[in-house]
Amino acid sequence: MLVNAKEMLTKAKAGKYAVGQFNINNLEWTKAILETAQELRSPVILGVSAGAGKYMCGFKTVAAMVDAMVDSLAITVPVALHLDHGTYEDCYKCIDAGFSSIMFDGSHYPIEENIAKTKELIDVCAQKGLSLEAEVGSIGGEEDGVVGMGECADPNECKMIADLGVTMLAAGIGNIHGKYPENWAGLSFETLDAIQQKTGDMPLVLHGGTGIPADMIRKAISLGVAKINVNTECQIAFAEAVRKYIEEGKDLQGKGFDPRKLLAPGSQAIKDTVKEKMELFGSVGKA
Ligand code: 13P
Repeated sequence: MLVNAKEMLTKAKAGKYAVGQFNINNLEWTKAILETAQELRSPVILGVSAGAGKYMCGFKTVAAMVDAMVDSLAITVPVALHLDHGTYEDCYKCIDAGFSSIMFDGSHYPIEENIAKTKELIDVCAQKGLSLEAEVGSIGGEEDGVVGMGECADPNECKMIADLGVTMLAAGIGNIHGKYPENWAGLSFETLDAIQQKTGDMPLVLHGGTGIPADMIRKAISLGVAKINVNTECQIAFAEAVRKYIEEGKDLQGKGFDPRKLLAPGSQAIKDTVKEKMELFGSVGKA
């Protein structure tokens, strides 16, 4: 059964570890992440962007697939199905589709409008038992065609949004989606520290988990980050493994063209990546 992310993140924040949000793209992705979480006894959040939702034939299809898979794979660790960077409209679509958690990304609205829309969605989520993530300060990089330059969040704005009663808060601290450029200045721990001081127990979310060095991840967790999003790194690992299979000519041997064989190394690569992240985030054995 799917659960919302409230309890797993409250425990993570108190226990000084983070739960990984791994974005899904298809059935193989979902299966690889769920199996790894179960093997490692780790809570997990499956992230779905608008683009990935569209690719998988809509949020209803995604919710039905994940729900059925949790049941058929006999997954007993807590699993949340979460809309990643949702627009106002997509939030309602996911609430209707049976997601257990949503992110309302109102960071591009003026703060007053972000607050009004967030408040409204908090009420709807509270009635239906969903958790809600809000964002302050845009996260840089490109995701689904939306390019942000990245800016550090204002700790006072973070407090305003946190006080509305969101479950978790994403704050820009110099992190970006996708690969980090050579000249990346690193995470602003000064900003993170100021945000955590203002927001207290609020679980903080670190987007753009791909390529952040392990020591920065550990420091971010020590300063209140309880959820870390990873997407690109699984995609790169999957593509590299499938490329290797084809370059070695394995698809031309016997029935190597069978998609179940062709995609198997990619699935294994996702599992290895997810395992590495769960170990780094400290969520292993926490479910
Ligand atoms: P990466 O693709 O950089 O890992 O970021 C994932 C993310 O933050 C999803 O919201």
